[in-house]
Amino acid sequence: MTSTEFDAKAADSGAGATQQFLNKQGAAADTPPERVSMLAREVLGAVHETIRRHNVTYPEYDALKAWLIGVGQDGEWPLFLDVWVEHVVEEVANAHHKGNKGTIEGPYYVPDAPELGATGSLPMRADEPGVPLLFSGQVRTLEGTPLAGAKIELWQADAHGFYSQFAPGLPEWNLRGCFTADDEGRFAISTIRPAPYMIPTDGACGKLVSAAGWHPWRPAHLHLKVSAPGHDLLTAQLYFPGDPHNGDDVADAVKPELILSPQPAVDGDGEVVVYDFVLDPSSAPGAQRAGLSSTEGR
Ligand code: DHB
Ligand code: FE
Repeated sequence: MTSTEFDAKAADSGAGATQQFLNKQGAAADTPPERVSMLAREVLGAVHETIRRHNVTYPEYDALKAWLIGVGQDGEWPLFLDVWVEHVVEEVANAHHKGNKGTIEGPYYVPDAPELGATGSLPMRADEPGVPLLFSGQVRTLEGTPLAGAKIELWQADAHGFYSQFAPGLPEWNLRGCFTADDEGRFAISTIRPAPYMIPTDGACGKLVSAAGWHPWRPAHLHLKVSAPGHDLLTAQLYFPGDPHNGDDVADAVKPELILSPQPAVDGDGEVVVYDFVLDPSSAPGAQRAGLSSTEGR
């Protein structure tokens, strides 16, 4: 591990994740006041009910207030929400899908990664540490028709668990790229196996994890967005068998359908894995995550 990577701080990744989210236009939903009122009342009602049920004290209330202030000061609202809330939003948004299971986006997606064709290597350092991984597959419709020209965006942590643009010292687009499926909907991506990811422990989210006696780990994962015109965007993560945190992901984002089956490469250098994607036809406007132009725009 380089010393720069060692110095990654919650405040750095938090500030980056906050800025990245604010850059994403179209995130504001046009929600009618009656719905805002209902949702706000129910959330506050759940808080009030918890306070009554457990006789929450003034010192506990003040600890909560200090902690919430700290989440803002550390720039950790994106991290907090994506770890402990997003998985249920994703579950509800995609419950009607018949194709691939998706999962949370998390805080570290950056649009407009380098375009790399149907076959290629993610941008990486000359001495990029980690086990080489050749990841290939095909994108199809529910009926099995190949989706030529489908976009596959891939972003991931390095072999030390750090994301480019959110941890210091990494090249801008390290381990981030956008592939375009060939005439048969196929793609092949050379990368490395990511490490398990530890959510930052030196900020407010880390304080909650240690105060509650939880652990801060996510299992190793590849992040993907797969899109094609006329189809719903699929935001997913793929996991590796045997990871100690597949069963207790702090962000609750692992699904059995998303665990890969890598095999040793025949030439002995690293691993190969095949994983196919099936996209659902476009659903009603508003059902999907806002602010994602890649399905129609490219
Ligand atoms: C967080 C980080 C991730 O890489 C991810 O996939 C989900 C959440 C986080 O730090 O909040
Ligand atoms: Fe991640």
